[in-house]
Amino acid sequence: MAEVCLVTGAAGFIGSHLVERLLREGYQVIGVDCFTDYYPRAYKERNLSAVRENPRFAFVEADLCAVEVGEWVQQADYVLHLAAQPGVRGSWGANFEVYTRNNILATQRLLEAARNSELRKFVFASSSSVYGNVATLPVDEAAMPRPYSPYGVTKLAAEHLCHLYHDNYGVPTVALRYFTVYGPRQRPDMAFYRFIKAIATGREVSLYGDGSQTRDFTYVDDVVEANLLAMRSPVTGRAFNIGGGARVTVRKVICMLEEILGKRAKIVQRERQHGDAGHTWADITAAQRLLGFHPRMNLYQGLVAQAEWLLKDIGPD
Ligand code: NAD
Ligand code: UGA
Repeated sequence: MAEVCLVTGAAGFIGSHLVERLLREGYQVIGVDCFTDYYPRAYKERNLSAVRENPRFAFVEADLCAVEVGEWVQQADYVLHLAAQPGVRGSWGANFEVYTRNNILATQRLLEAARNSELRKFVFASSSSVYGNVATLPVDEAAMPRPYSPYGVTKLAAEHLCHLYHDNYGVPTVALRYFTVYGPRQRPDMAFYRFIKAIATGREVSLYGDGSQTRDFTYVDDVVEANLLAMRSPVTGRAFNIGGGARVTVRKVICMLEEILGKRAKIVQRERQHGDAGHTWADITAAQRLLGFHPRMNLYQGLVAQAEWLLKDIGPD
């Protein structure tokens, strides 16, 4: 019998890539997603199109905060928990309620169900945003987290929930702190998606701040690989940085995209956004040593892959 993986957020950007990989590896997959309206449902349906008919894939349209999740957790050998309200800049004001619900409450409900299960691993999708603006880069997991956005607060709270269910009840949790993920199917609110579309169509590129902010951009296949390594590792009860090793300025990314697309960007500088960390850079020593994680994709090739996908699958406008 194939082992069973429960993937939450299965219709999302990263979750849908993870589902495909798990199916290729021979697992049986239960995918859960409620198609939140953060971006159009049609994008998420398209993310799932390659796996919908797979006999080892069962998709459930459900909100983790509104249904009984125990039955799925009981059936699973592994939980890969990616469902969340993502996005750093939109987490202020009244939106915070959605962030607390989908990021904290949903995680707590799954962990409660995991208390009474035989799960082999519960892998949580955490975020570089738990760190905020750290003084010393690259940042390692021993640094004191100090989120700079409400979103980061909810991801840190969920991570703490994972640790405390581990410490109190022995739930075999691992948190992976992804650093800005990119590649095919990237969410339409994220920088590369917006930049590629704007440059390709001759529209304005909105640059938040002066573009000197840096990110440790991570290709989606490398993040998927990290999830499999975490599933299969004996390590539990801790967090790992998952970064791509390609830390560059946002301006530099725009230059690379100009070269790839063969067009000049019409850059319009806008105000730096509240909640945006100045710099992120992952020290991945722990993930290398304890999980065997080695990111493979270089940024230029990854940008080419994302641009090819975006212009082919979604069209230039
Ligand atoms: P995404 O929005 O594409 O995917 C998340 C999915 O979760 C969506 O399809 C949404 O409909 C679903 N969802 C949300 N709340 C739900 C609920 N209550 N019940 C069921 N489904 C629900 O986002 P993504 O970029 O693929 O991010 C996946 C995970 O990785 C998130 O946990 C995010 O916080 C984390 N993360 C992402 C990045 C990044 O750069 N994309 C970086 C760090 C961490
Ligand atoms: C990303 C994800 O959106 C979060 O969900 C995730 O948790 C976070 O990574 C993380 O690493 O934890 P972010 O780094 O803001 O957040 O990713 P992008 O949206 O790709 O933005 C990268 C940079 O480009 C930011 O400095 C942003 O201000 C800038 N940007 C973005 C622009 O200048 N213009 C835009 O139109 C969009």
